[in-house]
Amino acid sequence: MRETAETKNIGLRGVKVADTRISDVDGERGNLIYRGLNICDLVAHSTFEEVSFLLLNDHLPTAEELKKFQSELISEREVPEALCQFMKMMPNHAHPMDILQAAVPVLASHDPQLHDESRNANFKKAIRLIARLPNIVAAWDRIRKGKEPVHPDLELTHAGNFLYMLSGSFPDTGTAKDFDTCLILHAEHSFNASTFAGREVASTHAHLYASAVAAIGALSGELHGGANSEVMKMLLEIGEVNRVKSWVSEKLRKGGKVMGMGHAVYHTEDPRATILRGICSRMADRTGDRKWLELTEAIEAVTKEEFRKLKGKEIYPNVDFYSASVYYMMGIPIDLFTPVFAISRIAGWAAHIMEEKFAEAQPKPELYRPDADYVGTYCGPSACPYIPIERRSS
Ligand SMILES: CC(C)(COP(=O)(O)OP(=O)(O)OC[C@H]1O[C@@H](n2cnc3c(N)ncnc32)[C@H](O)[C@@H]1OP(=O)(O)O)[C@@H](O)C(=O)NCCC(=O)NCCS
Repeated sequence: MRETAETKNIGLRGVKVADTRISDVDGERGNLIYRGLNICDLVAHSTFEEVSFLLLNDHLPTAEELKKFQSELISEREVPEALCQFMKMMPNHAHPMDILQAAVPVLASHDPQLHDESRNANFKKAIRLIARLPNIVAAWDRIRKGKEPVHPDLELTHAGNFLYMLSGSFPDTGTAKDFDTCLILHAEHSFNASTFAGREVASTHAHLYASAVAAIGALSGELHGGANSEVMKMLLEIGEVNRVKSWVSEKLRKGGKVMGMGHAVYHTEDPRATILRGICSRMADRTGDRKWLELTEAIEAVTKEEFRKLKGKEIYPNVDFYSASVYYMMGIPIDLFTPVFAISRIAGWAAHIMEEKFAEAQPKPELYRPDADYVGTYCGPSACPYIPIERRSS
């Protein structure tokens, strides 16, 4: 008889569903490791392009490998004209995450290797997605504002090119470098909700694009990638440091959540939040406006204090907490914060989808097929009598 574990209705917390070679989240010590390397070292020495290569290949690239990978990414930056036409037909109020999710199947339809399931073809598909998602997000922002999309600049880095396509002007080196760090920090986080969604779809032998669409959908929710834009809305609503105490206390007293605080895995500070706090401070210096940094710091301090009083335990900022004010100061529109998360996380998703497809961390590929206990209407083992429509009453 098959064994089942009693793990129902707990959101799979603490349930190990697979092995992975891609990343490790040490929630107790606050460490995040990509392919054996500490995120702090990657931020200090690498670029998003190099980290993407690492995630997809299980080793850091040689100089030659990196050069080839970078030029492949650059050569795949343009999106098919049909995709621009599609976006121009969409209503301006469409949410950028919905546009991004809808755009990916359009890319799939234009991929000449769509039905080639070799690892090499999947690697090429991953490159195309990493290269093109930023273009889609930037193009949609311009199209919805009645502007023409900006063609990618082939000289700029991945991070710099996104900021350029979004605003139409070249970012300063410091901001482009800090945005590159943001991309590295958001690129991978083990079996989070969106990655699991992508892997689950990949386990059915669906193609990489279909798996990525599922992951984008999962990321859009406010308990996952949607939290960063909710943090910014909170900052704007609170507005002044002297309103923080009353706002946060009231929120927590009523059982509400302070977005960007707390984490399902980290029981100490999320290492990404530590790095993002530094970027937030640099952006405040760069823009000459310390308001958003000070407000975010005040919310962090008051939430920690009030949470301790109310629940007798600690709470810490997660990746979304400081990224909100960082993106705001970079001039990124609030509803693009989650799509910006996606243009980074696509590297991690693609690595996981390939790991799932090719069983790179387990003996053979397995279709995910969990069980559930039926707790609905029950009339016995032969089911309930079927009532014809004319005899039904409400
Ligand atoms: C991320 C999150 C879902 C993690 O949840 P979790 O570890 O499963 O923790 P729980 O939801 O079980 O929360 C434990 C307790 O802390 C409270 N809590 C957790 N995060 C909180 C927050 N941000 N604000 C207020 N209370 C919070 C919960 O209400 C719960 O209280 P209870 O024990 O009285 O029911 C949760 O912290 C959250 O909703 N944070 C805000 C959304 C967010 O920033 N998401 C991005 C995650 S990267």
